Amino acid sequence: MKKLFDLFLSILIFVSCSDSGGEDPIDPPIEPPVENDRPKNLEEYNATSDGLRDYYFEDGYFDIGVAIAPQTLDKPDEIALIKRHMNSLTAENAMKWSSIEPTEGNFNWSDADKIVDFAVANDLKVRGHTLCWHQQVPDWIFEDNGVEASKELVLERLKSHIAAVVGRYKGKIYAWDVVNEAIDDGGGYRNSKWYSICGEDYIFEAFKAAREADPDAKLFYNDYNATEPQKRYSIEKLLEDLISRQLVDGIGLQGHWNLDGPYLSRIRDAFDSYAALGVELQITELDINTGSANEYTSTIESKQKSAYGRYFQEFRDYKDEITSVTFWGLTDDHSWLNQPGKPNFPLLFDKNYDPKGPYFDVIDF
Ligand code: XIL
Repeated sequence: MKKLFDLFLSILIFVSCSDSGGEDPIDPPIEPPVENDRPKNLEEYNATSDGLRDYYFEDGYFDIGVAIAPQTLDKPDEIALIKRHMNSLTAENAMKWSSIEPTEGNFNWSDADKIVDFAVANDLKVRGHTLCWHQQVPDWIFEDNGVEASKELVLERLKSHIAAVVGRYKGKIYAWDVVNEAIDDGGGYRNSKWYSICGEDYIFEAFKAAREADPDAKLFYNDYNATEPQKRYSIEKLLEDLISRQLVDGIGLQGHWNLDGPYLSRIRDAFDSYAALGVELQITELDINTGSANEYTSTIESKQKSAYGRYFQEFRDYKDEITSVTFWGLTDDHSWLNQPGKPNFPLLFDKNYDPKGPYFDVIDF
C-alpha cells in the first residue's frame, strides 16, 4: 500500500513538475523486483542452514515461535527444526490449568518444566500460555462441596494458581497470555463459568495476580477473530481499561486464519487500532486452515502460498508494532487442525520436516 502511495506521489510530483516544461511525459521509474539470495526450493534450502529466525529475528523484524508438546523434545528431527527456525517457544497445552493443576493444590510441573528447561538451555524465549481460559480448565475451581463456589472462592483459587505458575517461571517466561478468549464473537463477555460466577472482575484479578507474581513479565490479552470489528471494539475497550490500571502490555491475535481471510484491510485496521492504544502486538497461534480437502493439491498449495506470503508481508509492514509471530505447531501432522479422517495442512513444514511451498513465500522478501 505504501509503495502504491509512493508511486502515486511520484506521479503527482512528476506531472506537476513536467507540466510547465511542455516536454513529452516520461514514465516514472519502475522499481525492479527485490532480489534476494534466499532458497527458492528444497534443494537450495538443503544447501543452507539458515531458517526463519535468521530472516526475521536476527534481521530485526520479530521473534519467530512455535507451539509444541513436551514429546517434541524427544525427537531429534523436531529439535533440529526448532533450532534452525525458531527463537521462541509456547507450550501448546502443557501450561493450561488442567495440565498444571488438575486437582486443587496438586501441581504437575514436569511437562511445562521440560519445555522451559529446553528453552533456557538453547537460548530461546518462552511465551506462557495460558493462565485463565474457559477450556481445559478443571471443574473443581467452580465447585464447593457439591454446590457452585462463591465468587470469593473462585477468585482466591484463580489468584493462587497464577501466583504459583507465574512465580515458578519468573525470569524464564518473558510474556504470558493471562486471559484467553474472554470476549465472544458478538462482542459481549463470554458467558463462561468465570464470567457467570465472577463477572468481569476475574479478568482484572487475573492480570493483577500475574503482575504481582512477576512484575517484569509482559502481560497479554489473547483472542481469536481479534480482527473482526465487533469483537475488536470490545477488546479495545477491555484493553483501555486494563491499560488505565497498568495491567496489560500487549494483545495476542491468535491468527487461526484461512486461505481467503481475513482480508488484509481488516488485519490492517486491527493492527492500527490496537497499536494506537500503545500496546505490543503479537501473532500468537498462526496457522492457515486448508479446509475440508483430503489432499494438499497444487491449487490449495498455491492459495496457501499467496495467503502466507501476503500475511507475512503485512507483518513485516508492521514490524515496529509486532514483536512476535508464533506458529501453532511445527509440522502439519502435529497440528490441532489435523484430525483422524480429517486431514489439514495449515503449517509451513510437512511430516518429513521439509518446508512446503508457502515457506518460500514467507522468506521471499
Ligand atoms: C488447542 C490445542 O492445540 C489442542 O491440542 C487442544 O486439544 C485444544 O487447544 N486457541 C487457543 C489454544 O488459545 O490454546 C488452542 O489450542 C487453540 C485455540
